Amino acid sequence: MKALVYHGPGQKAWEDVPDAAIQEPTDVVVRVDTTTICGTDLHILHGDVAAVTDGRILGHEAVGTVTEVGDAVKGFAVGDRVLVPAITKCGRCEYCQRGMPSHCQTVGGIGWIFGHLIDGTQAESVRVPYADTSLYTVPGDVTNEQAIFLADSLPTGYEVGVLAGQVRPGDTVAVVGAGAVGLSAILTTGLWGASKVIAIDTNKFRLDKALEFGATDAVEAGASTVADVIALTDGLGVDVSIEAVGYPETLLTTASLVRPGGTIANIGVHGVPVELPMQEMWIQNVTLTMGLVDTVSIPTLLKMVASGRIPAEKMGTHTFTFDQMDDAYDVFKNAASNSALKVVITPA
Ligand SMILES: NC(=O)c1ccc[n+]([C@@H]2O[C@H](COP(=O)([O-])OP(=O)(O)OC[C@H]3O[C@@H](n4cnc5c(N)ncnc54)[C@H](O)[C@@H]3O)[C@@H](O)[C@H]2O)c1
Ligand SMILES: [Zn+2]
Ligand SMILES: [Zn+2]
Repeated sequence: MKALVYHGPGQKAWEDVPDAAIQEPTDVVVRVDTTTICGTDLHILHGDVAAVTDGRILGHEAVGTVTEVGDAVKGFAVGDRVLVPAITKCGRCEYCQRGMPSHCQTVGGIGWIFGHLIDGTQAESVRVPYADTSLYTVPGDVTNEQAIFLADSLPTGYEVGVLAGQVRPGDTVAVVGAGAVGLSAILTTGLWGASKVIAIDTNKFRLDKALEFGATDAVEAGASTVADVIALTDGLGVDVSIEAVGYPETLLTTASLVRPGGTIANIGVHGVPVELPMQEMWIQNVTLTMGLVDTVSIPTLLKMVASGRIPAEKMGTHTFTFDQMDDAYDVFKNAASNSALKVVITPA
């Protein structure tokens, strides 16, 4: 089969590899019908993720069809249309039982293994460990182009942003960074009855998208960001301030937007230490949350996509086929100049 193989920083190739095959009785093999690229794949290609080594097939998001089933698999059969999420879970370790499969101990000490610790989904087929507890059946009224965004970005914005931030009816919410993850937080914040959702980004195209996705206000990031947001919230700041970029300065901005008693929900993946003004923050009674997505909200999100409450398909701005994998990466890497959000990649 063909797959996108990582060959060290800056090096990748769509090339022939051995077919994906069952290794454990709890595995299935899934033919990949739709995949996409995540910002994390770009981090890997920069050489930022040391655990990813030469020869690893990239990707941790897919919708596909089961083609082989291990002897111990009970819940899936050949031909089933399934969502392969970013997080794999054994379902039995302490963290899985606590509802926190992001830290599943069985699959490698962390739930994110595809395109990281084992071969991933940017391939014609993928081996899926612990299939019974990890895969989701895609309902007939949800398309592949919708389901693919439930593998990672939608649950991340929802779980690590909206749920961790504890958005409540009437709340004012700020989302710093309107990429796929920030936009996912914006899309799902309305479900909790936020009265005002303020999107903040440097990119005009993404701010327009944010308004389309349910933001009530868009603020172009700059010197007056904090003052602009405070002015939009009766001088008080927001109840929930969500960070979806991953830089020290954007976390500091996010922290400056919250009112006393509010929550700062950090989603961004940070590569360097951040100095927070604790001398100002301690007296504000604020909560700071952070974490790796668990993807446990997928069943809920699937229902809301099926019913039309979440227009997940709007995340996909560009479509490519497997043999255009390099073009797909180029467009995604230069998202701002290409008015791109997420790419949808299919076999043909
Ligand atoms: N916690 C998790 O489990 C988890 C999972 C997936 C992704 N992430 C992280 O979430 C973050 C967002 O992911 P994404 O895929 O949406 O990334 P992205 O790069 O597509 O989006 C980031 C957005 O931030 C904007 N931005 C850049 N500088 C800014 C600034 N100074 N002020 C305001 N906006 C600014 C960019 O224009 C862009 O629209 C990343 O850090 C990613 O690694 C976390
Ligand atoms: Zn990802
Ligand atoms: Zn587990």
